[in-house]
Amino acid sequence: QKKRFAVVAQRYSERRSSMRGVTEQEAWEDHQAQKGTVRFGSKDKKKVIDGYEFVFDDLASFVEESSEVKTGRHRGCYSRTVAEKAREERELLPIHAYRDELLKLIEENQVLVIVGETGSGKTTQIPQYLQEAGYTKRGKIGCTQPRRVAAMSVASRVAQEEGVKLGHEVGYSIRFEDCTSDKTVVKYMTDGMLLRELLTEPKLDSYSVIIIDEAHERTLCTDILFALVKDVAKVRPDLRLIISSATLEAKKFSDYFDSARIYLIPGRRYPVEKFFRRLPEVDYLETVIRTVFQIHQTEPTGDILVFLTGQEEIETAETKLKLRMIDLGTKGSEIIISPIYSNLPTELQAKVFEPAPKGSRKVVLATNIAETSLTIDGIRYVIDPGYCKINSYNPRTGMESLLVTPISKASAEQRAGRSGRTGPGKCYRLYNVKDLEPTTIPEIQRANLASVVLTLKSLGIQDMFNFDFMDAPPENALLKALELLYALGALDGNGEMTKVGERMVEFPVDPMLSKMIVGSEKYKCSAEIITIAAMLSVGNSIFYRPKNQQVLADNARMNFYVDTEKVGDHIALLRVYNSWKDVNYSTQWCYENYIQSKSMKRARDIRDQLRGLLNKIGIELTSNPNDLDAIKKAILAGFFPHSAKLQKDGSYRRVKEPQTVYVHPNSGLFGAPSKWLVYHELVLTTKEYMRHTTEMKPEWLIEIAPHYYKLKDIEESQPKKTQRRREKARTLKVDTNKKKAKR
Ligand code: CDP
Ligand code: MG
Repeated sequence: QKKRFAVVAQRYSERRSSMRGVTEQEAWEDHQAQKGTVRFGSKDKKKVIDGYEFVFDDLASFVEESSEVKTGRHRGCYSRTVAEKAREERELLPIHAYRDELLKLIEENQVLVIVGETGSGKTTQIPQYLQEAGYTKRGKIGCTQPRRVAAMSVASRVAQEEGVKLGHEVGYSIRFEDCTSDKTVVKYMTDGMLLRELLTEPKLDSYSVIIIDEAHERTLCTDILFALVKDVAKVRPDLRLIISSATLEAKKFSDYFDSARIYLIPGRRYPVEKFFRRLPEVDYLETVIRTVFQIHQTEPTGDILVFLTGQEEIETAETKLKLRMIDLGTKGSEIIISPIYSNLPTELQAKVFEPAPKGSRKVVLATNIAETSLTIDGIRYVIDPGYCKINSYNPRTGMESLLVTPISKASAEQRAGRSGRTGPGKCYRLYNVKDLEPTTIPEIQRANLASVVLTLKSLGIQDMFNFDFMDAPPENALLKALELLYALGALDGNGEMTKVGERMVEFPVDPMLSKMIVGSEKYKCSAEIITIAAMLSVGNSIFYRPKNQQVLADNARMNFYVDTEKVGDHIALLRVYNSWKDVNYSTQWCYENYIQSKSMKRARDIRDQLRGLLNKIGIELTSNPNDLDAIKKAILAGFFPHSAKLQKDGSYRRVKEPQTVYVHPNSGLFGAPSKWLVYHELVLTTKEYMRHTTEMKPEWLIEIAPHYYKLKDIEESQPKKTQRRREKARTLKVDTNKKKAKR
């Protein structure tokens, strides 16, 4: 019988006054309990005593450093460079003790499921271990992340640990941003990017190892990847597959991968005291703010992590905290506020990892990105209101929205655990954990599937209904996706890819947007359309609206809408871009016009990439700036299902669905009704709002999508045509079933 006993001695870092990880006393007691005879300070790292194998990693330095600190002689550690420190810290991570065992298991098992607590070092260390063990000689190591921020920040951390430039040996790839080179051997990427890579490299030949990280998150792309990499592994016995997860859902992963071996990385977790409030919260943000100050004033040192739902809420909380600091006379140096969310500019993202200066307390305001994807050291207190934003799709109406939803019990545990990583922690919950569902529903069961279905079709997978899903999506969601792809012309009546579909799949954007781009060829305005597509892809951050200059900002924005007649949001976006281009992409111009120059630069970047892809599929770049009708028709070529008609009461009604929708208050067409509109997307806040709307002529619907709209639709006020389309989709399904096993 052999038992491994590992003691990982954690070193001091300059700003901490207490030990991280195992304390000297605990290590000693563990050691005594085993009746070992190895003394602390022994240079031997491994000893077999009474049939037990003891591993003392770094024990010698453990004793030295702690005694040094006791006598106040901890010189030297201040002068280490960041890279040196990062490299040394590697050895202090819980996973370090299991390095060799892990490598052996990976060698012996093609598929390995690894479970380890967040922060144990899975994401940053495993790829490095594999690199050190020579795997990169055979091919790259790819590691997927559900979130772009995680991919970027982890890659930058690993580059730092290895002392290499980011983008050289270690790089990352996220949508519209490829930070890799020929040299890159360790590649972090979003799960969506690996899915796209499969399109050009179906057997992932350039990889020796694929790590599907954060598997417990069960994002749509991760779920699809499970099935695809499982297949690739069958034809590539040399490929190694690692499924890595932070929760104990491992059995499910193991079962799915034909009883793959599970490896648990034992982590040391400190006890977390949990508190909750019985009263329902009237204004939970207010409670959060108060709790922050209570902790700050009454609790010992340690940083605070607050889980919020998104950028907007984080910004509100930041403002409120700052105001309260002034009210309470708190010095700015006492509390350092550090926001982190996915749209935060890259250079600010890194700041969240910087330790707060001595004597101050860091308050991290994070989305659930900090739940498992990112580990921020030094957190001792967690404040958890218990909500997150999740993607939710209604297959009946085709409405996709981000909904603020209560988190699951599993998430609540993960969040609380963030406070007990480096010492005993405290978690303040603004809810009763008993009210929560045990786990979150996988995204595949609540997402719009059009994009992944198109990808799968392009990979030659015919039968969506018998695809090897870990958890199958609802049948009507699959039908809806097939139906939309058929309507867009990406699939034919037999559910097979068309030429149009093949062109669409080249663009890393939603099918409607890619159809708009492909459709622009016909209207000779591809140059304008890729500009609009790029501007839409940047998201909602083009216009800048500072709190104290809202009127000025709104006036500046409206300048882009006025013409002989009022233009819609798409055309306005085009004008913003072209005006910026006319002034030679000037930052000063952005500033003067209340435009965010960073967003514009990103749009330019995305546009360049879209132009490259147009070239690849052989569509010429043609400009037709003065023919607004042509541009609108091209938009409709992709977005014709998103049509709405004005009602007597000023609201709109979707032409093909019995759904009432409204013009978004941020739209230039707000309060300036046009009878017929096409919109980019629906967002649900207080109402169902159409975001980015443009006016159109109803006859265009019939001109552009005669298979979808009939004259009746644009004459009658309330068409009821859904039934027919359902039937069409059902025949589609039957057809695809017939073609089963064509893979
Ligand atoms: O993947 P897992 O949650 O197991 O851990 P990890 O992401 O590999 O993180 C290991 C350690 O690296 C954490 O304790 C962080 O302190 C550190 N880290 C960091 O400082 N900066 C990052 N961007 C990522 C990780
Ligand atoms: Mg990780």
